[in-house]
Amino acid sequence: MTNMESVRKQFPILNQEVNGHPLVYLDSSATSQKPSSVIDAVSDYYKQYNSNVHRGVHTLGTYATEGYEGAREKVKDFINASSIKEVIFTRGTTTAINTVASSYGRDHLQSGDEIVLTKMEHHSNIIPWQQIAKATGAELKYIPLQEDGTILIEDVEKLVTERTKIVAMTHVSNVLGTINPIKEVAKIAHKQNAVIVVDGAQSVPHMRVDVQDLDADFYAFSAHKMCGPTGIGVLYGKKSLLEKMEPVEFGGEMIDFVNLHDSTWKELPWKFEGGTPIIAGAIGLGKAIDFLNEVGMDNVEAHESELVSYAMEQMNTIDGMTIYGPKKRAGLVTFNLDDVHPHDGATALDSLGIAVRAGHHCAQPLMRELQVAATARASFYLYNNKQDVDLLVDGLKKTKEYFGDVF
Ligand SMILES: Cc1ncc(COP(=O)(O)O)c(C=O)c1O
Repeated sequence: MTNMESVRKQFPILNQEVNGHPLVYLDSSATSQKPSSVIDAVSDYYKQYNSNVHRGVHTLGTYATEGYEGAREKVKDFINASSIKEVIFTRGTTTAINTVASSYGRDHLQSGDEIVLTKMEHHSNIIPWQQIAKATGAELKYIPLQEDGTILIEDVEKLVTERTKIVAMTHVSNVLGTINPIKEVAKIAHKQNAVIVVDGAQSVPHMRVDVQDLDADFYAFSAHKMCGPTGIGVLYGKKSLLEKMEPVEFGGEMIDFVNLHDSTWKELPWKFEGGTPIIAGAIGLGKAIDFLNEVGMDNVEAHESELVSYAMEQMNTIDGMTIYGPKKRAGLVTFNLDDVHPHDGATALDSLGIAVRAGHHCAQPLMRELQVAATARASFYLYNNKQDVDLLVDGLKKTKEYFGDVF
């Protein structure tokens, strides 16, 4: 078993004080911190071999291309895609989902067709579908949530019909921590000849994901939530689907032949990567994958599972604490504490050096479902430890006392 304290030491940002207290970073669902190896890989690229990829015949260009394409190979292995043709670099999860909606959605949807989502989706997995539904005349249907923030497979079976062309679902909810049964949902979607688009922003960083085993048609995730840099993410898509899809961005890099009045595209995956790509980002993502592989995704998952159980147990001892979502969950806890507004609570915790997120977490429909305007969220990653949880719980008790006196 990896020593998680030695893992933590590899994140230089964690070794600092914020507002006079040691930093307790509990906002990894928003963005994760980066280990030195990733920071160094990005900096080495700029210091030693910064160059554009694919076109150059010179040495630096070759190194940069090797770094960029080598990262694609690492992504392929990490999620068990069957070919590098299925790994498209995007700006992140949002861009990946927009790419599927704008390309696959535009060409496969028409009036009378349905797109099935859940009520726990992040805005990034709602709005692209709303937009494409408006453009094509398709309709959105929502799988309801149970009291504990899970979905029922019977509801999926009822809602996914021969009218359904696309099922779009998060693998892990960024608010509830719910882990959705993607493999079963994929089977139901495929029975109706629909495709499943999975938002993997909160799953790929925290658990072993095998896109072939899940039988996902499309799978989207962001590097910055998995120890990698901002500005880069991945769209996985089955080759058979991507091959028939039109690019959504046109210009340099993605073309084969350009004539005055028409052009042809490169083969997969490059036809979806118009313009100079996110070279440093991909190299950083590749290093992040090396790092996560060294720790082992099973260790990451087990570590977070232990932390989140401990956190829920401790937080539940605080009077007036409401925790949202199911018992069996990914490594995050979304909560409200009595009448303390989550923004006030998060500000009070920040004064103690504890970073949590407050707000609607880009899931306004879900907030309405929970009948709250906002919540606070503590999210864990491989570098957090039990002491972080103890400091959070202690901070919450102090916050409650403070606001108890104020109100
Ligand atoms: C579940 C989920 N989907 C999508 C996103 C969007 O990711 P990005 O902003 O990296 O595109 C997030 C980010 O918070 C998320 O948690």
